[in-house]
Amino acid sequence: MSAKDSAWWCDAVIYQVYPRSYADSDGDGVGDIDGIRAHLGHLRDLGVDAIWMSPWYPSPMADAGYDVADFRDIDPVFGTLAAAEALITEAHQAGIKIIVDIVPNHVSSEHPWFQAAIASPDAPERDYFWFRPASERMPTAWTGEFGGTTWSKAPDGSWYLHLFTPQQPDLNWEHPDVRAEFEDILRFWFDRGADGIRIDSAALLFKDKDLPEVRDGEPHPFRDLDAVHDVYRAWRRVADEYPDRALIGEVWMPEVDRFTNYLRPDELHAAFNFDFLGCAWDPYLMRACIDRTLDAHAGVGAPPTWVLSNHDVTRHVTRYGRTDTTFSFGNNLDGTPVDLELGTRRARAAALLSLSLPGATYVYQGEELGLWENENIAEDQMQDPMYARRGHSRDGCRVPLPWSGDEPPYGFSTATPWLPQPAEWKDRTVQAQTGDPNSMLELYRAAIRLRRSQGAGFAWLDRGAEVLAYTRGPRFACVLNLSGAPVPLPEHKTCLLASGPLDGDLLPRDTAVWLRL
Ligand code: NOJ
Repeated sequence: MSAKDSAWWCDAVIYQVYPRSYADSDGDGVGDIDGIRAHLGHLRDLGVDAIWMSPWYPSPMADAGYDVADFRDIDPVFGTLAAAEALITEAHQAGIKIIVDIVPNHVSSEHPWFQAAIASPDAPERDYFWFRPASERMPTAWTGEFGGTTWSKAPDGSWYLHLFTPQQPDLNWEHPDVRAEFEDILRFWFDRGADGIRIDSAALLFKDKDLPEVRDGEPHPFRDLDAVHDVYRAWRRVADEYPDRALIGEVWMPEVDRFTNYLRPDELHAAFNFDFLGCAWDPYLMRACIDRTLDAHAGVGAPPTWVLSNHDVTRHVTRYGRTDTTFSFGNNLDGTPVDLELGTRRARAAALLSLSLPGATYVYQGEELGLWENENIAEDQMQDPMYARRGHSRDGCRVPLPWSGDEPPYGFSTATPWLPQPAEWKDRTVQAQTGDPNSMLELYRAAIRLRRSQGAGFAWLDRGAEVLAYTRGPRFACVLNLSGAPVPLPEHKTCLLASGPLDGDLLPRDTAVWLRL
């Protein structure tokens, strides 16, 4: 095994903290860094190897912090830079690494660069963005990432580009100052002990300077332009100046070969597996997805990742309880019927799957508690800018965590949480689930602990087309029954862990087990 294969990011369990919703220490209804510090024990008990922090920087919060006004400080709502540094130190003391989130495609419209750019047409900062002269028609008819148009007018009437909201002007990555600035930001956080960087919207940075329209069969004008790879090669050189630092890309890319380009040996260390996240709960599609993932990553020597949920997508307890179990932004399933019991049963099985496939596994905060999407947030309480543009809100997966007690705010805060928590979450709190062997939390704790006893390698076991079964080394197997009926277990010494009750020697449907062979 090469040094690279044994690096921490290759098989880590990485827990995504969404700071607004983890724990509130100062009673304003919004989570913060001191809240995370106070509840670090939860992550230690869970056994995770690393935390990825969604953005915590000063921000007007037009897109929940993905509109960054200053990459080298912390928003007062979350705390201070000193608190962030203390969190990094305390996490390290608990054996937990920290990944910070960097957003290179755009900045906040309050960022000093953009403020300077709109203050004067001669400002050099204007070239850091995509400005086009005032005209009646927008320079392009591109549809933005949240839906809607991608150009807004600056105070002087000129157009500027924003692939997301108007408060998130896109940077011009052709400009050397932009490149230099972000390399410096990486060093800023590496110098403060960050172990990794999650790269937001990693494939969007470059735009075709001619600004052509999006046309079938022609190269996309703002997605996955080849020049982006030069940036990540440079970032890799920066990361390599430090020991054991990882770059992890948010790359939504249906074409596998274009996706793995980001993972070439001199580029990013890893990328989120959205193919797996969006896959239907279906034996044929899931097997194909796993094979595709393993083949693609082997081809570039990068570790696969397994992701079920994050702060942008419908929680998988809800997804797996619907008739259509896929996820994609283009397919809005909000409000379609959900069987939460079925979704929970499948989510439990999915946990054993995602925690035993070779590679790194991401856990989105609250999935270890079996939280479902809150689909009952009143329109006037919704915060997500996507809702106005696309009719789908991501707020339902961003609801504050339930820690204790029988009613909201469930120990999250002393104030009313920034998004409402369902009344039915009283049995989903950390307190209620701790010590209950049948709880989702204890399943995750046991699985993360036992995960260490899996062997290396991966081989499918033939248990029929609708049963996903594989070994990890000579002594460990995972079996997931996706057929409609109970199936016999393969020969084994002991059952290490099961996602649900077994039926004698039979594995019920939508249930997974880990076996000692
Ligand atoms: C991806 C992030 O995960 C999402 O939350 C954000 O809205 C967009 N990028 C824009 O930064």
